[in-house]
Amino acid sequence: MRRRGGAGDSGDSGDIGRAEGRAGGARGARAQRSRLPWLRTLLLAPLLTYVSLPFLIRLFPGLLTKFVYLNFLAFPFFADFRRPELLVNNTVSLYLTTEPGVTVGVWHTVPGSRGAEARGKDRRWYEEALADAHPVIIYLHGNGGTRAASHRVQFLKTMGAADFHILALDYRGYGDSTGHPSESGFTTDVLALYDWAKARSGNSSILFWGHSLGTGIATNAARKLQEERGVQVDAVVLESPYTNIRDAGANVPITKIYRQFPGFEYLILDSMARAGMFFRSDENVKVLECPLLILHAEDDTVLPPALGRKLYETAREAYKDKSKVKFITFPEKLGLGHDYISFNPELPALVK
Ligand SMILES: *[C@@H]1O[C@H](CO)[C@@H](O)[C@H](O)[C@H]1NC(C)=O
Ligand SMILES: *[C@@H]1O[C@H](CO)[C@@H](O)[C@H](O)[C@H]1NC(C)=O
Repeated sequence: MRRRGGAGDSGDSGDIGRAEGRAGGARGARAQRSRLPWLRTLLLAPLLTYVSLPFLIRLFPGLLTKFVYLNFLAFPFFADFRRPELLVNNTVSLYLTTEPGVTVGVWHTVPGSRGAEARGKDRRWYEEALADAHPVIIYLHGNGGTRAASHRVQFLKTMGAADFHILALDYRGYGDSTGHPSESGFTTDVLALYDWAKARSGNSSILFWGHSLGTGIATNAARKLQEERGVQVDAVVLESPYTNIRDAGANVPITKIYRQFPGFEYLILDSMARAGMFFRSDENVKVLECPLLILHAEDDTVLPPALGRKLYETAREAYKDKSKVKFITFPEKLGLGHDYISFNPELPALVK
């Protein structure tokens, strides 16, 4: 075309040439624009997600429960819950119906000193073993993953070797347990396990040991036991805890990108309560009277140790017998972080 225009000797050939040039330019722009949606989506999708997520959370606070509970991240993904012996010795799996329609999976690890005896024994033997006067830990894991996660298995190994019974459950909605996660549902699951253990453990002491999100579940359960039945659990241990879920939300790294977002408190933090999530350990500890031990690593980058300290100070203030409240921090050089306190071989000695 250009050639034809260029070949013409009429005076307006230049005009034709220019017109075609414009048309060519428009074609080029069209071609470019048709590539743009890709680019635009690529650039805009994260931005739109970033901006709209807080509003979606405010509108549908139930969304927030997914981020807090993370039960859909069921790592390790190929665990065989019925065969815990593949991961840890002296352990069986059992199932407990905690309310009609909800069944939770539990692993029971017996004290290491009974390891030789335990080999090849069935569930009945394990159940009877609960009455052997060794203390019983009800282990309440954090969010995300299942009881088969490696740091939780390590807890069974460390405390099992130190001659504790450990009952580690997956709350409703986690692992192979049925049902959907909810704060009050977790408490129901834990108290059902407590009753089951209490009915079999004679005079042995029973402890609630919570880790991370599980610390709020531990204090909820201990408080309910106290307020509704007048029963004190024998001790509560809180590993890498927080004061309440709102404070936790304001401090966990995942919300860091939103802290400067206008309306962060209104849109995200206030939505915790609207989604039915409170986990008020700072209120719960004021009701407790049992020994309370708080463990926190100084290099915890998920929940800062300042939260553990604040919880300790709240409890110490409220307790009549202040000697029952203890706070142990682990120096940074041990590298225990948020999840690895149970890898510390000195842990059982600190607890006893
Ligand atoms: C169980 O104990 C045996 C013997 O002490 C050991 O060889 C094995 O590695 C243990 N299994 C697990 C899963 O820890
Ligand atoms: C529990 O303790 C009470 C009194 O302290 C005692 O009479 C009872 O025999 C104990 N039961 C068991 C199973 O050890």
